[in-house]
Amino acid sequence: MLKVENLRAGYGKTDILHGISFEVHAGQCVTLIGANGAGKSTALRCLTGLLPVRCGKVLFEGEEISGLPGHKIVRRGITMCPEGRQIFPEMSVLENLKMGAHIRRDSEQQVDLERMMDMFPVLRKRAMQMAGTLSGGEQEMLAIGRALMSRPKLCIFDEPSLGLAPKIVQEVGETIARIKETGTTILLVEQNARMALGLADQAYLFEAGEIVLRGTGKELMAHPEVSNAYLGH
Ligand SMILES: Nc1ncnc2c1ncn2[C@@H]1O[C@H](COP(=O)(O)OP(=O)(O)OP(=O)(O)O)[C@@H](O)[C@H]1O
Ligand SMILES: [Mg+2]
Repeated sequence: MLKVENLRAGYGKTDILHGISFEVHAGQCVTLIGANGAGKSTALRCLTGLLPVRCGKVLFEGEEISGLPGHKIVRRGITMCPEGRQIFPEMSVLENLKMGAHIRRDSEQQVDLERMMDMFPVLRKRAMQMAGTLSGGEQEMLAIGRALMSRPKLCIFDEPSLGLAPKIVQEVGETIARIKETGTTILLVEQNARMALGLADQAYLFEAGEIVLRGTGKELMAHPEVSNAYLGH
């Protein structure tokens, strides 16, 4: 579904990504793990049209999308649930969810709103409340619900567990697993390697703008380099 080939990108005169390649097959959950500053979000910015690609290619469903503006990439079926959630704090929960569907022309948005509020009952309870008044975990659920409102084929999550209590991290993990079960393909970026590798069919370890290890979630979890540096034992 998604093929990234020898991608280079950066900011100003600095290259951050030094030619990375990875793939996401339809129906999979693929994870990119790695430390602070490794270049994970930079890679996602390239995939979603927020940062120009300097070299290499991004193919989605066989067609090149590198160079397309963000809104066209969303129309192709890629939506990102961004780092830090980026909800609209002064809009209501309901309005935030509706924003996620702004590219759609079909008439089933109401059906999907109901579906989101069934999936996240707390969003129904707080539908009219300003989104900025939600707790961190509730804001994450809102950001996920908003992303799903575009009916993405590929949903990208950038550090969904960041700043959340362990119990909520577990809920976020269960939510992502459920989304995968509905047939949405997932690309998950995490510093929380334990959570991400537990969910992943395929995983890649990023270090300083390069992919240094790849394998199934289980394989990476068992790899000494990963368990020593990223799993805390
Ligand atoms: N807008 C920017 N301008 C200049 N440099 C940037 C910018 N955004 C990120 N960087 C730099 O690019 C490098 C990679 O950052 P990136 O955000 O991709 O890392 P990351 O793997 O997502 O890290 P984290 O896990 O902390 O989110 C870092 O050295 C960072 O300082
Ligand atoms: Mg990041």
